[in-house]
Amino acid sequence: MSQRFSSRTGWDLGESRFAEAIRRARAEGRRLIDLTVSNPTVCGFHYDAEAILAPLSDPRALVYDPDPRGMWSAREAVAGYYADHGAEVDPDAVILTTSTSEGYGYLFRLLCDAGDEVLVAQPSYPLFDFLADLEDVRLRPYPLFYDYGWWIDFAEMEKRIGPRTRAVVLVHPNNPTGHGTRAEERRRLEEVCARHGLALIVDEVFLDYPLNGGALESFTRGPHGVLTFVLSGLSKIAGLPQMKVGWIAGFGPECRAALARLEVIADTFLTMNAPAQYGLPGWLEGRAGVQKQILERASGNTRKIADCGVEMLRTEAGWSAVIRLPRVGIGAEELLGENVVAHPGSFYGMAEPEWIVVSLIVPEAEFSTGISTIARASR
Ligand SMILES: Cc1ncc(COP(=O)(O)O)c(C=O)c1O
Repeated sequence: MSQRFSSRTGWDLGESRFAEAIRRARAEGRRLIDLTVSNPTVCGFHYDAEAILAPLSDPRALVYDPDPRGMWSAREAVAGYYADHGAEVDPDAVILTTSTSEGYGYLFRLLCDAGDEVLVAQPSYPLFDFLADLEDVRLRPYPLFYDYGWWIDFAEMEKRIGPRTRAVVLVHPNNPTGHGTRAEERRRLEEVCARHGLALIVDEVFLDYPLNGGALESFTRGPHGVLTFVLSGLSKIAGLPQMKVGWIAGFGPECRAALARLEVIADTFLTMNAPAQYGLPGWLEGRAGVQKQILERASGNTRKIADCGVEMLRTEAGWSAVIRLPRVGIGAEELLGENVVAHPGSFYGMAEPEWIVVSLIVPEAEFSTGISTIARASR
């Protein structure tokens, strides 16, 4: 008899046609210009190696003394980060995780029974499908629509709420659209959540990357009329995804009860390692250096898109851009024929075949060549 596996892991593990085409192109020795690279540690930014690595040999880390919510000093540093954003966050309302993704997993377990539903924006980044599958949660998309900027379609959102809906996920600013939630949208979202008894889960990993000069307001700033969880972490804030540090901060009604349950979830796994928690305060403090470089790169690359006459949809923040190609019949697959790799919009749930997504943190020279090729190919 062969082994039976869970149906939740019954994914189609085959290679997509697009991934296969990229692999074949590389195997043929073609040099591809990759406009999808979004791992900051391979994009040529300068990191203060000594300062970053020093805490990893902190002798205090030789003692194992776990706190399920995470080390107090580390949680205080997270509260300090939010104080810089004008928010008062109680370190006791912070739960450290090894990533934002793990934070989502904890929250889905906290809020949902098997088969319960969570609303997520469409377009948004594709990891949600797997995170939801693993917790037996169903995702229901609510549309963002584009009309000289991105907007939440509240009428559609309300239609997607059913008796099993437990939470709304908001990525603020959104990846890949760069949609930053406006104050009026926040008010309406909270009103919808309150009326239907839903929690609000806000992913702010790109909060510190506004592209138009203005700052984005964090949902950690009160008042909080509904149970709200804000997720973030060092992957984007400090450009350090390899350190595996993220967190959940809780606010609003029933937050204490929620945190007590989250503590048990965290205590069950105790995933945080001691050196990373000793490192967190310094890594957060040193974030300005890498953030400045990333912002300069992203802003410079958006200017290059405009200079080449390529149309970029309006974005307010983040590391990616949605490009609208001017002709029907040209999309990510055709660009691969020109040795340029960009994500098809469908990867993020966009229906328009002429929309593609590029990373804005690709090194300048590579980005220039790629965008000029796109401009030429789409004429
Ligand atoms: C919106 C968003 N949230 C979370 C993550 C993952 O962050 P982490 O490394 O903390 O899991 C990503 C990764 O790109 C992301 O785009």
